[in-house]
Amino acid sequence: MDKQALKETAQKLMAGDKGLLAMDESVATCNKRFAEAGIPQTIEYRRKYRELIVTTPKLGECISGAILFDETTKQSAADGTSFIDLLVKGGIIPGIKLDEGAKDQPAFPGEKITEGLDGLRERLKDYAAAGLKFAKWRAVITIAADIPTDANIYANAHALARYAALCQEAGVVPIVEPEVLMDGDHTIERCFEVTQRVLHIVFEVLIAQRVYLEGMILKPNMVLSGLNAVVQADVDTVADETVKCLLRCVPAAVPGVAFLSGGQSAQDASAHLSAMHSKYKNKLPWALTFSFARAVQQPAMEYWAGKDENVAVAQQLLYKRASINNAARRGEYSP
Ligand code: 13P
Repeated sequence: MDKQALKETAQKLMAGDKGLLAMDESVATCNKRFAEAGIPQTIEYRRKYRELIVTTPKLGECISGAILFDETTKQSAADGTSFIDLLVKGGIIPGIKLDEGAKDQPAFPGEKITEGLDGLRERLKDYAAAGLKFAKWRAVITIAADIPTDANIYANAHALARYAALCQEAGVVPIVEPEVLMDGDHTIERCFEVTQRVLHIVFEVLIAQRVYLEGMILKPNMVLSGLNAVVQADVDTVADETVKCLLRCVPAAVPGVAFLSGGQSAQDASAHLSAMHSKYKNKLPWALTFSFARAVQQPAMEYWAGKDENVAVAQQLLYKRASINNAARRGEYSP
């Protein structure tokens, strides 16, 4: 394992006030979002959409790394330049989603386990050779009356740790994403309790599997009230509870924490990140940034609507949302 190279890549991904762009929607997820926005669900429209993103002027000022889906790594812009080359030319480090999705866990109703470990060492060799420097694996944890179970959390943590160790062997920085879903009517206290348990177990297992903490990035959920909870915690409370939870669970050796947005509105996600920075400036041991998909892309995708004549304005909307999150990382955003 080249520890120095891993550490340097992780630090570059966390540099300045930049963040990551998760543009790694699987075919099924991308098609679902296209259907909602009235966009044809074909390989060519997915290619056009990814071209819109990677050719957005000055995106590299705001985004340090972009997470791709396998299909996108093999695609090119209309002028024949590969998307990977376009990202690198724009100063953005290309990464790859490696998990193969969350499936029902047998004997654990309502709980999911992420698949994709078989053959991962070989896949990693190919991706590393193609220039992909970092990766992502998403585990999904669901809150309901009697779940999550510890058995489910341990199974997902084990897969995350196996994936992370394989990435580091290949010289690829792993983003470890244990997402506690915001679906449900639970309180923010319950989200705190579950997120804390999940992060404790994830780091216990990462350490047991000898994952090099200085060469990884954590991608957690924020601590929030459930989407359908009657009482919704305010921005300050979300910032306080999220930072408290992370300080209790994430070793200071980890160079960076990059949040998923998880279905929050673009404004809420940015406001929460900004409040964490304005309230806890210089009090956090790791870089704290964004790795949003929906909260950066949604306004641009909806405006684009699959029409070539809308590309330029959609790119401006994408740039705007990305730069708003840079301001949030400086603690300077208010909706
Ligand atoms: P959202 O920001 O839309 O939650 O997506 C982030 C992500 O990469 C989920 O795996």
